[in-house]
Amino acid sequence: MAHTNRIALVTGANKGIGFEIARQLAEAGATVLLGARDADRGRQAAEDLTAEGLSVSSVAIDLNDEASIAAAAKHIEAEHGRLDILVNNAGIVDAEDGPPSGASTAAVRRLMETNFIGTLAVTQSMLPLLRRSEAGRIVNLATTLGSLAINGDPSSPYYSARLIGYNASKAALNMLTVQLAAELKDTRIAVNSVCPGYVKTDLTGNNGFMTPAEGARLPVQYALMEDSTVTGRFVEPDGVTPW
Ligand SMILES: NC(=O)c1ccc[n+]([C@@H]2O[C@H](COP(=O)([O-])OP(=O)(O)OC[C@H]3O[C@@H](n4cnc5c(N)ncnc54)[C@H](OP(=O)(O)O)[C@@H]3O)[C@@H](O)[C@H]2O)c1
Repeated sequence: MAHTNRIALVTGANKGIGFEIARQLAEAGATVLLGARDADRGRQAAEDLTAEGLSVSSVAIDLNDEASIAAAAKHIEAEHGRLDILVNNAGIVDAEDGPPSGASTAAVRRLMETNFIGTLAVTQSMLPLLRRSEAGRIVNLATTLGSLAINGDPSSPYYSARLIGYNASKAALNMLTVQLAAELKDTRIAVNSVCPGYVKTDLTGNNGFMTPAEGARLPVQYALMEDSTVTGRFVEPDGVTPW
């Protein structure tokens, strides 16, 4: 049986899909820690949600700053003693990313550093708190663009999206999902990769077919999933995605 009052951390939640994930988790009754690398932006976003009567507070967490990650874990332990839900939402694209033949290697390094290594660092720091949960859930914000199978399929509409840095960083994130789900298979913690769909946010230059609230739905569904045997999956709104 899951804790009735779930404690959730959403990284990169001061705007975009993360903000809506924070809102929807709080609307479902969770106590939400809204993660933001900029403390002021985080505080403002949390205030916007508390003004709606939701249980949300901000926590400073920068994926590129291990000290801030450690401090966030310490804060959550002191305030709540455990974590039930970790939504690894924070992520970046980079204007200097591009096809393998020409992308800036500095950009690729930045993308790997944030989207993969930063997410791995957050996950490692929060794992001791998630192990104390009766039903720990980790949701990694993935993308169809991180699918090796789809990148290699000429019939896919994503075939020509050659962003070696972004796509590789999200493929690496999927490896985290696969390996961590296997490592934790005998625990009460489930780990899944969830693609939100193509969503209008700053990250997509406000292109996309879905609103951030619509994009938050599937990640929230997996964050609140009762069944801990649903783990090690890669899903998108249309169903299961090939790795
Ligand atoms: N939008 C889509 O269509 C789409 C599709 C598939 C997957 N996704 C994934 O969904 C997630 C959310 O994307 P979004 O579209 O909502 O993007 P967004 O509106 O640009 O929001 C990204 C969030 O991540 C934060 N962030 C960036 N670098 C960070 C760092 N080093 N430490 C902490 N936070 C950091 C940003 O903070 P600042 O405000 O400080 O920059 C912001 O809060 C990403 O992982 C993205 O790859 C999005």
